[in-house]
Amino acid sequence: MLVTMKKLLARAKNNNCAVGAFSVGNMEMIMGVIKAAEEMNTPVIIQIAEKRLMNSPLELMAPMMVSAAKNAKVDVAVHLDHGLTEECISKALEYGFTSVMLDSSLKPFDENIALTRRIVEKASLYGATVESELGVVGGNEGDTEEHIITCTDPKMAEVFCNETRIDALAVAIGNAHGNYPVSPELRLDVLEQIYSRIDIPLVLHGGTGITEEMFRKCISLGIRKINIATAGFDGLSAYSKKYCDRTDKPDYFTLSAEMVNGVYENTKKHIKIFNNKEN
Ligand code: 13P
Repeated sequence: MLVTMKKLLARAKNNNCAVGAFSVGNMEMIMGVIKAAEEMNTPVIIQIAEKRLMNSPLELMAPMMVSAAKNAKVDVAVHLDHGLTEECISKALEYGFTSVMLDSSLKPFDENIALTRRIVEKASLYGATVESELGVVGGNEGDTEEHIITCTDPKMAEVFCNETRIDALAVAIGNAHGNYPVSPELRLDVLEQIYSRIDIPLVLHGGTGITEEMFRKCISLGIRKINIATAGFDGLSAYSKKYCDRTDKPDYFTLSAEMVNGVYENTKKHIKIFNNKEN
């Protein structure tokens, strides 16, 4: 069933867990995520970043994502990740996304507030949830540029949330998009300060490669949404390669099933951690 992200974040808070937000780039990825979520009877978020629309156009992805959510046996929110332009955010809302992220984290603070306010106003017309980012997450999300990490300032985060009335805040605590050279030691001290000042759910980007122990610590400090992109794409590629390597004549239908499987296994592994239960 298609639901707002806000509903899933509130549920995560009540259950002291986090909801997984899995990036998708084609039909097989959508199917793999939903299959895992249904099997584990756990709500999920499926998302796509604006920069990824170069490969996977919104006019094709959006109807598939929304339809998959509507037909799922569990609650699913459909989210625009790293929205960079108001135009793209508006289109996603028109297509029925139940959540959007504005990423103007590289803009000056006041400008970030002003832009975010506009999106909050627009999204409210659709009853959609809004996530925004403060500080700079490292790496890149489909961008050519590598960003240097700047941790979120807890005091500025408090002002930002009060001024914008967003529903969820993406924090920068040493996390980065893409594969880490080694699992990061995140700045839990910074997260703790943010959590003590802010009431709304917090979002952790750059989930690929973070250890189970670190995920659990982050959940205990208010992280309610965790983004996983690279691990899903890598899972799809690895399963596809393994299949192509073991046959002389790969056929599309088996390849497609392997793609679903690769994403399904990755999603299941992360949902299990994010549910934050002692086995
Ligand atoms: P990873 O690619 O590191 O999993 O990051 C995902 C993300 O934060 C998408 O916004």
